[in-house]
Amino acid sequence: RNKMGCVKDLAESTSIPSKYNYFNTQNQEDGIDEVIADEQIPIIDFSLLNSGIPDQRAKVIQDLGKACQDWGFFMLINHGVPESLMERMLAVCQDFFNQTEEVKLKCAEEHVLAPIRYGTSFNPSVDKVFFWRDFLRVWVHPQFFSPPKPADFSEIAMEYSQRTRQVVRELLKGISESLGLEECYIEKAMEFDSCFQILVANLYPPCPQPELAMGFPPHSDLGLLTLLIQNQNGLQVNHNGKWVNVHASPNTILVNTADHLERLSNGKYKSVLHRAIVNNKTTRISLVETHGPCPDKVVTPVAELVENETYPAVYPGMTYKEEMFSRLSNRLAGKSHLDPVQT
Ligand code: SIN
Ligand code: FE2
Repeated sequence: RNKMGCVKDLAESTSIPSKYNYFNTQNQEDGIDEVIADEQIPIIDFSLLNSGIPDQRAKVIQDLGKACQDWGFFMLINHGVPESLMERMLAVCQDFFNQTEEVKLKCAEEHVLAPIRYGTSFNPSVDKVFFWRDFLRVWVHPQFFSPPKPADFSEIAMEYSQRTRQVVRELLKGISESLGLEECYIEKAMEFDSCFQILVANLYPPCPQPELAMGFPPHSDLGLLTLLIQNQNGLQVNHNGKWVNVHASPNTILVNTADHLERLSNGKYKSVLHRAIVNNKTTRISLVETHGPCPDKVVTPVAELVENETYPAVYPGMTYKEEMFSRLSNRLAGKSHLDPVQT
């Protein structure tokens, strides 16, 4: 019995079922040309934020602001999260997907806001085209959840999510300062102590026709910052209308600014469109963490940053959790989530 129809079980086939044929259908709607560029993404040295040397901190905060503004994306080096922990985290996610479908289906909750949810594509009940992706989504903060198996998932995910939360806290301080705000401004305004942190493990098995299928379609992320680690490359970021292949160095964390940071900064920092492509040789795993505000928060632009009428400070009055529900219940559609409400 294969109720889910996960793509892991399709990896051995010689062609993809037609419902996975993305590039002949869906991308026309996305309206983004297939221009692939090779550019170097910004690199941020995390250790310089707390080196104790004011000049170094000022410089890296400037670089951070520039990366958020020009790219909405950067590669974090010297982040202090142990490489062995990152490796164990990716390995235990692989272990999860290696379990039998019967075991995994115990986590296949219907409700999109289930704190532990195994699934495939993005939202098969509404996806027009299916994506070459299986996933496990787990809430890790303010309340920590874990699938019951593999047995060591809980311990590893707990440690990894705590360590990365501290990294994000420090980054948000730097980002606050780069916006001319007080160091703890975003932390306080977003009630970061009860931040909604979600961990998503994405599995992209080898695909017999990678030129036709899409792993994860173009989208921007909800939340403030997204952190991503992976066992191999496959992420593309949209920069000035071109898809840029992200070549991440080992032991780095990829970071992108997400929708609520764009909203908070009144559009100064862009929530970047990105997507994941697939290949026909190896299984790719990415571990994505969405770091958002407190689930009950209604996020609006910072008053100090609203300078004129060009970026109206009008947004749906939904809490972050309600927005999360709306996002996960619908089809993924680029950055449509950020569209201001028409009044
Ligand atoms: C995502 O954006 O959530 C997934 C991207 C990736 O797997 O590289
Ligand atoms: Fe994403």
